[in-house]
Amino acid sequence: MLTVALSKGRLLEPTVEFLHRAGIEVPEDILSSRRLLAPDASQEYQFLLVKPMDLPTYVEYGVAAAGICGRDVLLEVAPDLHQPLDLGFGRCKLVLAGKVGETKENHNLLSTPRVATKYPRMAEKFFRSRGIPAEVIYLTGSVELAPNLGLAETIMDLVETGRTLRENGLEVLELVTESTARVVVNRAGFHILHAEIQEFLRRLRKVL
Ligand code: PRP
Repeated sequence: MLTVALSKGRLLEPTVEFLHRAGIEVPEDILSSRRLLAPDASQEYQFLLVKPMDLPTYVEYGVAAAGICGRDVLLEVAPDLHQPLDLGFGRCKLVLAGKVGETKENHNLLSTPRVATKYPRMAEKFFRSRGIPAEVIYLTGSVELAPNLGLAETIMDLVETGRTLRENGLEVLELVTESTARVVVNRAGFHILHAEIQEFLRRLRKVL
C-alpha cells in the first residue's frame, strides 16, 4: 500500500478531485471527516492529511512515500525530495502586499521595513537579494491583519482570488513567484517502491 500525504486547506478539494479523475478512489468523506489517515477503497493507497508546511517533512522521513503540495511550500521548506510532476491546479501567487495607496511607492525606502509572513525564508531571501535589512515577523495565519494594526508595513503571502487582500484594504506591491500543486516523492522510496510510484505517477499524468 502506497502512503500519500495530502495538504489540508485550500489544496485539499482540488487534490481529491484530481485523484478521482486519475481513477484513485479517495474515501468520499475525506473532506468532511476528522480522520487523518484514510485508505482508499482498493487498499492500494492510504492518505495522510497534514498541514501544508509539514507535508515535505512526512515525505522526507519516508512516513509517506509521496505527497501533493504547493510549490510555495517547497520553496519555503526546501526539502530534499524528487519533484516529478506539476499538476497545474491550485494556481496562486506569492506576493508582497501593503496598505492601499500607502506603501506602493515608499516600501523600498524604509530603512528597516517589517514584513509579516508565513514564508520567513522566502521573505528573508527576497529582501536580502535587494540588500534591504528587513525584519521578518513570522505568523502562521491571518497575515493580512498586520499592516492595518501596525505590526508590519508589508506582508508576503499567497493570493488566489485577491479577495482577502481587497477585503482588508491591501494591494499587491510586487509579485514574488507563482505556485501550483506539485507531486513530491521520497528519494529512497522512488527506488524501493519503484513500481508503485511509477503506477501512481502514470495515473496522475493521464489527467494532465
Ligand atoms: C490563504 C492566504 C491568504 C488567502 C488568499 O490563507 O494566506 O490569506 O488564502 O486567498 P484569496 O486571494 O483567494 O483571498 P488561508 O485561506 O490558507 O488561511 P490562513 O490565513 O489561515 O493561512
